[in-house]
Amino acid sequence: MQVQLIILLVGMLSTTLASTSLSRISLVSTTIFDVTKFGAKGDGKSDDSQAFVKAWKAACQAQRIGRSIIVIPARKTFLLKPVSFSGPCKPSRVFVQVSGNIVGPAKKSDWSGYHLDSWLSFSMVNGLTVSGNGRIDGQGPMWWKNACVGNPPPGTTCHAPVALMFKRCNNLRLNGLTHINSPRVHITVTTCKGVILSNLHIIAPETSPNTDGINIASSTNVNIRDSIIGTGDDCIAISGGSSNIKISGIMCGPGHGISIGALGKGGVDVVENIQVQNCTMTKTLAGVRIKSWQGGRGYARKISFKAIKFDAVYNPIMIDQYYCPTQKDCITSTSAVKISDISFIGIAGTSQMDNVVNLSCSKSVACTNIVMDSVYISSSVTPKRKVFGTCINAHGRVSHVKPSINCLKP
Ligand SMILES: *[C@@H]1O[C@H](CO)[C@@H](O)[C@H](O)[C@H]1NC(C)=O
Ligand SMILES: *[C@@H]1O[C@H](CO)[C@@H](O)[C@H](O)[C@H]1NC(C)=O
Repeated sequence: MQVQLIILLVGMLSTTLASTSLSRISLVSTTIFDVTKFGAKGDGKSDDSQAFVKAWKAACQAQRIGRSIIVIPARKTFLLKPVSFSGPCKPSRVFVQVSGNIVGPAKKSDWSGYHLDSWLSFSMVNGLTVSGNGRIDGQGPMWWKNACVGNPPPGTTCHAPVALMFKRCNNLRLNGLTHINSPRVHITVTTCKGVILSNLHIIAPETSPNTDGINIASSTNVNIRDSIIGTGDDCIAISGGSSNIKISGIMCGPGHGISIGALGKGGVDVVENIQVQNCTMTKTLAGVRIKSWQGGRGYARKISFKAIKFDAVYNPIMIDQYYCPTQKDCITSTSAVKISDISFIGIAGTSQMDNVVNLSCSKSVACTNIVMDSVYISSSVTPKRKVFGTCINAHGRVSHVKPSINCLKP
């Protein structure tokens, strides 16, 4: 250890002939790109998008050795139109230090001419860290009035943008920020490997449509932890193509809980190795659920929910293979996403609804190896009120479960 440290220090000294003090040594080969030095006003009114793009380009194209830090200073509010920050970048690590506030355009007309899929997007940047105690405000309310139901594709007139999108970013870190009032999903991570999202605070009203907290799609090795999420839709949703996902220390509510899916909308979806642990749901519409459309294919397997607390949740534990949010043109099909090896262990709390466990699997493709151990859910309406569970084609075993879920059998 010590030998390595000395070599490291010698290496640092040799690259900084000009440094004389230790504090300068620790900053060696770090280059700071302050957005205000690139023309950003931070007055909340001027459009700072171009200044941010210039700072990004400079940081991304900086010398290969060392790291670039883009600084978004505190006590200022930066108005940004839709912008995309793309890589690949020359430095092996790019840091974005968000200390100030970032707000979206206040009028829909400011969005005309832009691709509406996302507001702020980072793509193809490896080793990106976005951190700080700043705030990202998506100015959602103007989008919420005529929102789509069930997230139709871009191009649909009711389709609102994702506030913050990461695409093809490996070794991504997002830490400490507050995200409020996104037009649609607050944070989307898609096609990324090696991601840590931590200490986030995501807030939108309970009534805001499609404002998921965090969506993960087609990504692997993702860790989401120690965050507070209250929104109008899923706190966290894991979509197809995702594996090795760990979620822990999440306080969720209001919102629709933590969801795997909806999977299999007109195609093949696979998700596996997902652990959800030490999370608390407060007054959410669903607690933990796996949802899939009729007619899909693929699988959702090796998923565990451990040490989860429910406080007055509406539908605490759900598997729903009949997902169809519009309740229009819902099809019935003999194909379905295969659900297997799902465990619910050490779960306790209360429910607003009497049906506290609803395992509605496809009639043609059974759910298998569903394990429930030490699950205790009572009514939040009155302590003595009777609660129950229901199943369709769900197979597995139960131990120490109350209410007794007799419908879950081998
Ligand atoms: C559980 O999550 C809470 C935050 O909700 C955190 O403070 C606590 O340290 C976590 N406990 C464990 C054992 O991970
Ligand atoms: C269980 O979930 C299914 C699928 O969403 C739904 O149709 C059914 O009404 C639910 N059962 C109860 C008793 O709430």
